[in-house]
Amino acid sequence: MRVLLLGSGGREHALAWKLAQSPRLEKLFVCPGNPGTAALDPARVENKPIAPLDAPALLDLCAAEQITLCVVGPEQPLVEGVADTLRAAGIAVVGPGRAGAQLEGSKVFSKRFMLEGGIPTAPARIFDRAGLAEARAFVGAHPLPVVIKADGLAAGKGVVVAQTTDEALTALEDMLAHDRFGAAGQQVLVETFMPGKELSYFVLTDGQTAIALPEAQDHKRAYDNDQGPNTGGMGAASPVAWASPDLKATIEDEIVAPTLAALRNQGIDYRGFLFIGLMVGPEGSPRVVEYNCRLGDPETQAILPRMEGDLLALCAAAATDTLADLPLPGLPAPMHSLAVVLAAEGYPAKPKTGGVLTGLAEAAQTGALVFEAGTGAGPTAAERTAHGGRVLAVSAQGGTLAEAQRLAYGAMEQLRLPGSFYRKDIGHQAG
Ligand code: GLY
Repeated sequence: MRVLLLGSGGREHALAWKLAQSPRLEKLFVCPGNPGTAALDPARVENKPIAPLDAPALLDLCAAEQITLCVVGPEQPLVEGVADTLRAAGIAVVGPGRAGAQLEGSKVFSKRFMLEGGIPTAPARIFDRAGLAEARAFVGAHPLPVVIKADGLAAGKGVVVAQTTDEALTALEDMLAHDRFGAAGQQVLVETFMPGKELSYFVLTDGQTAIALPEAQDHKRAYDNDQGPNTGGMGAASPVAWASPDLKATIEDEIVAPTLAALRNQGIDYRGFLFIGLMVGPEGSPRVVEYNCRLGDPETQAILPRMEGDLLALCAAAATDTLADLPLPGLPAPMHSLAVVLAAEGYPAKPKTGGVLTGLAEAAQTGALVFEAGTGAGPTAAERTAHGGRVLAVSAQGGTLAEAQRLAYGAMEQLRLPGSFYRKDIGHQAG
């Protein structure tokens, strides 16, 4: 099979690594990929310098290279309809079209979708610019903490969990009055805060059948003990010990099945990954915080090493509506997996780029996996330059959580990038 993978982050490096293990793979093209995907088996994996939003260039590549399947990593191309364009040209795609990607692309759409579909979530009110005065009054009277969410994609910065009314009003005005998020902030949700523990739950679906992937727990704050600013994710652990079989059965019955039914009722043909961000309340009931129309980053770097079997076969079946024809995939490997992110100095506010990263070969020698993200070519083939906020993730597996942590942090100690940092407590809530 000749396959296209869109994206350039750590998630895509992990996807390329896993897809390249498939005996069905003839050639994987990664657009644009990163130095990590460039370092995979060159006979089977090749980076092409094409942006994931450049649909005409992607179509040309698919025609020239006889590509029949595309796996989309990040959300932006999905929200902008790249999957629709490729499908219209006869290419099978893992990733929803524009209609299904609204689950992530519009928080207003997804909240209405959940409320209409009877899917457990927090109550919320929706306001637009004309309703700013009403929104202010609503926020002023709302119990704290209160959650303010911009409607559209805002690079992970469009959600504020306000601890004070002043903080909530500032967030509201930033979005509705000061245009801080442009079109993404033209509508805002004011949502009741849900206490509990966060869980990242993933399925791969062809719209009819859904296969659960290993669950994970993300660590969104920049610093240890869940302190500091929110980030895209500083590390992930899988499995999550408190995610019991009963809890997973409840998630399947009360959230996954109604979500797929609601998509079908709306005539949305959803094929691809669905990442359900859940809050599991003190009484044990799961509620949806948000949907994402893709896999998580860095969760993917933790969960794929636990998946046994052929991911490419699963992807091809999801894209062609034939998941039910496959034998049920086995349970995830009974190992603990940990992905720890190395971040550039200044991340997330103002990451410093250009520093030289060394020690990749030494880190790999420990047996851990290194999934690159914000890296560029370095002064030598063994080095890289830091190119973005999250530079890479070290992913390690062990028989226990403590063993996975020991391996991951041992590998991390081999890496050198001036000013960089990583959390030392990834997995602290997973055991
Ligand atoms: N780690 C959270 C996300 O991928 O959105």
